[in-house]
Amino acid sequence: LPNRIRKSDVVVIGGGAIGLAIAWRAAQRGLGVTLLERGRFGEGTSRVAAGMLAPIAEARPTEQPLLHLNQASVKAYPGFADELSEASGMDVGYLRCGTLVAARDRDDAEALERELEMRLALGLPVSRLRASEARRLEPALAPSLRLALEVADDHAIDPRLLTAALVEAGLRAGARLRAGAEVATVEVSPRNRVSGVRLTDGEVLETEHVVIAGGVWSEAIEGIPHEARVPIRPVKGQILRLHDPSGAGLVSHIVRIAGSYIVPRGDGRYVLGATMEERGFDTAVTAGATFELLREVIEVVPGVSELVIDEVSAGLRPATPDNAPAIGPTSVHGLWWAAGHHRNGILLTPITAEIVAGMLVGEQRPELAAAFAPARFARGAAQSSTRRDRLMPVGA
Ligand code: GLY
Repeated sequence: LPNRIRKSDVVVIGGGAIGLAIAWRAAQRGLGVTLLERGRFGEGTSRVAAGMLAPIAEARPTEQPLLHLNQASVKAYPGFADELSEASGMDVGYLRCGTLVAARDRDDAEALERELEMRLALGLPVSRLRASEARRLEPALAPSLRLALEVADDHAIDPRLLTAALVEAGLRAGARLRAGAEVATVEVSPRNRVSGVRLTDGEVLETEHVVIAGGVWSEAIEGIPHEARVPIRPVKGQILRLHDPSGAGLVSHIVRIAGSYIVPRGDGRYVLGATMEERGFDTAVTAGATFELLREVIEVVPGVSELVIDEVSAGLRPATPDNAPAIGPTSVHGLWWAAGHHRNGILLTPITAEIVAGMLVGEQRPELAAAFAPARFARGAAQSSTRRDRLMPVGA
């Protein structure tokens, strides 16, 4: 017989930034939370992420609901980072750095003018800088620079500090966080209601609510009825971590160049990324990708060639068919998704946790989350009911 342990109000599957933040927020609201992580906390996609909090620099005009969600999350970040720091007693590496989007040549400059127009039409706070103005802000930019956009409100965080602080804050709030606990199956009763989860070692945890926050690994979880599944594919990103032996100061803004970026940590360390590759679960780092990333960034910030390379790695962004996250309940009572954040996982951590923890205790779905309902991926089956499951805090 499987080993049954104490019942939880909610089981969160996945110990990356999103899952850990949900566990923390849900525990703060008085819920009995168990988080299950198949490996180690924060060691999947979160560990590789650059930590750009840059919704405006990355905005696409066709993705307005996502832009609004991203902006709400970036707005929540200073308060979230302060509270997390306080709750964990740890620094989370939040840096108010702003972003410069740089154009190297005429083609880049034309594209940047169009990007500027689009952002201004959306009412986004971005300004056009002549090359000389950009170089006054960042003297390390190459003299060949054509044009730049400044996005003063786009900042950064260190995802490794973020997840470490979330673990500590979650534990202090009373969440049970278990590493090395891999879920095989979500158990759903014949009445279409979650009853528990079964781990790969046979252990069963009883719970009425399961939040799937397993990123690209969510696909491997069995037992989720077809109509409540969210297809998620990995989008590989190769990324470098470097440091400047002479200390901080090479660049103080995030600098974006076409598909690449360099993110300062504020202490002489930098993160330089990232490729977008659809190659399944491959996480090999390749010479060609590393070369291209470095070439593109060094063309605009030549001083990068003096930096020391500390790490080259590859992470797997979790992407849904429309590349937007799945956040909220499903047609299976008690089954929730918080996955598929693609390029925006670290950015969307505060707002995702707030939405899910709030809905778990019976709050209405906020309007800005409506576009991200997992039900949009339901195929064939009857559409999800609008019924909201309400979960009472422990002891209430
Ligand atoms: N958000 C940056 C990236 O996914 O590469």
